[in-house]
Amino acid sequence: MSAEVFFRTHIDGETIDPSRFLARFDEISSFGATGDGGLDRQALSKPDIEAHRTVIDWFRRPGYRINADAVGNIFITRAGTDGTAAPLVTGSHLDSQPTGGRFDGALGVVAAAEVLASLDDRAIATRRPIQLAIWMNEEGCRFSPVTMGSAVFSGSLPSAVAGRAVDREGASFARELDKFFLGIGVKGTTEPLSRPWRYLELHIEQGPILECEHSTIGVVTGVQGTIQYRIDIEGQEAHAGTTPPAMRRDAFKAARTLIDRIESKLEDGDCSTRFTVGRCDIHPSAPNTIAGRTSFTVDLRHPDASTLERHDVLIHKTIQDYAGPCGVTLTKLINTKPVAFDLRLTNAIDAAAERRGLARQHLLSGATHDAARIAGLCPAAMIFVPCRNGLSHCPEEFASETDMIAGVSVLHDVVLAEAQA
Ligand code: GLV
Ligand code: MN
Ligand code: MN
Repeated sequence: MSAEVFFRTHIDGETIDPSRFLARFDEISSFGATGDGGLDRQALSKPDIEAHRTVIDWFRRPGYRINADAVGNIFITRAGTDGTAAPLVTGSHLDSQPTGGRFDGALGVVAAAEVLASLDDRAIATRRPIQLAIWMNEEGCRFSPVTMGSAVFSGSLPSAVAGRAVDREGASFARELDKFFLGIGVKGTTEPLSRPWRYLELHIEQGPILECEHSTIGVVTGVQGTIQYRIDIEGQEAHAGTTPPAMRRDAFKAARTLIDRIESKLEDGDCSTRFTVGRCDIHPSAPNTIAGRTSFTVDLRHPDASTLERHDVLIHKTIQDYAGPCGVTLTKLINTKPVAFDLRLTNAIDAAAERRGLARQHLLSGATHDAARIAGLCPAAMIFVPCRNGLSHCPEEFASETDMIAGVSVLHDVVLAEAQA
C-alpha cells in the first residue's frame, strides 16, 4: 500500500481496519476457489452457502438482526438510534460466474461488513439503521435471470418467476433455496422488509477505464441497459455421413446463420453496442450426428434506451425472416433499461474521494449490478475501483489491496454521512 493512500485512510481517526478487511476478503475468497486465482461459486452451490454462512456468522452478536426474504436475499441490520428511520443499505453479491474472479460482488459484501465492524470498534451510533444486503443470484448464470434477488426485492421480477427457475442439470431454484436456508441457519420470510433510504455499492469496475485513466475511484453515473434472449432451434438429428444437403435440418447450422445475421445488423459505427453469445448448447453433441436441437443466448447492451429498442426490433425481425428448414423460437429473459444513479449520492462519493486525496473518474457501468435494480426503489449509487487489464468474469480478475482499501474508505465515509441524515 502506498504511504499516501495509507495515510489518508486514517484521516481524523476515521479509519476502517485494512488488515481485518483483507483477512476477511481472503477467507471469503477460499469458498469455491478453483486453484488458478479464480472461483466457481455459482448461486446456491455449496461454496455459495458457505460464503453466506461465514458473513452471517460475523454478525451473530448483540446489536444486529439477521433476516432473509423469500428469494434468499440476506439483510444484516445494525440498529440505529431512531427506531422509525429507514435503513441505509449497502452490499453486493457472493455468487460468481462458473470461471469467475474473487472480486466481483465479494468486494462489496466484505467492504460493507468492514464498515459495520469499524463503526462497532469506535462505538459510533448512527441515526438510521445500516443494513448489509447480500443479494441472491446476481450473476444469473446457474439460474436465470441476472440480478434475480435484487430484481425480486425491487418489484421488477415476480418472485414466482424466480421460483420456477431450473438449472441446466434440472435442479430447481426453489428446492436449492430450501437447502440454502437450512445451510445458513436463517429462515426466509415473506413479511415485507423496510424500504431502503439510500443504497450504496462498492464494486470492481470490470472494464479498462479507471486503469487507463490512472484513477483509483470510479464515481458511477449509471448502468447501461441489457436485454438477454434465449433462442431455441428445432431441427432433425440424422446421420452426418449419409444425409444429403437438401435433406438436412441442422439446428447448429441455423444457429450459426442467425448469430452472424443478428451481429451484422447490430453494427453501430461507434462501437458502443455489446453483443455476446455466451452459451450455446448443441444436442446431442456427437461428432457424427447432425444437431437436432441447438439453443443459444444473446446478451445485448447499450447505454441508450432507444438504440436498445431498435436493436430489439431488429433481432425479432431477423428471427421472423429466417426461412430455413428448422423451427426457431425466441424468449426474452430480461429487459432492463439504462439507469441513471442519484446525482446527490454520486456528488457525495466524489467529495469523499477528493477529501481522501484519491484520483477519481466519473463513468457509466458496462456491467449490470444489483444497484441498478435497487435504484428503482430509492436513490442509489456505486463506487468502482480499478481491475487489472480491465479483466473480469475470469480467474485473472484482480484488484490491488491499495485500491480496495481506498474503495472501502470512501464507502465508509458516504455510508456514515448518509446514515446520520
Ligand atoms: C453481471 O455480472 C453482468 O452480467 O453484468
Ligand atoms: Mn458483480
Ligand atoms: Mn458478475
